[in-house]
Amino acid sequence: MTEDTIICRCEDVTYGQIVRAIDQGFATMEEIKRMLRCGMGACQGRTCGQLIAQIISARTGKPLGQIAQPTFRPPAMPTELAILAGEPDEETS
Ligand code: FES
Repeated sequence: MTEDTIICRCEDVTYGQIVRAIDQGFATMEEIKRMLRCGMGACQGRTCGQLIAQIISARTGKPLGQIAQPTFRPPAMPTELAILAGEPDEETS
């Protein structure tokens, strides 16, 4: 990986930005998410979350299993507004 390698494609966050944030003391998934917005894009961190956890683990020496994933807020999956409004699903009705 280079400094310019994109880790979070949704928010255009690079490996270098994440490493600098960790070196500044932002060493949890939640802190990095809040600082750089990675994990807040369209995929809600499904693409970048594990990569960021691996970078934190490598940089801090903390075991990967001890790095907590950030909280996810609903909707966790793309949802049609009609479903949220309670309208019948066109495919099943
Ligand atoms: S790749 Fe990071 S939020 Fe989608």
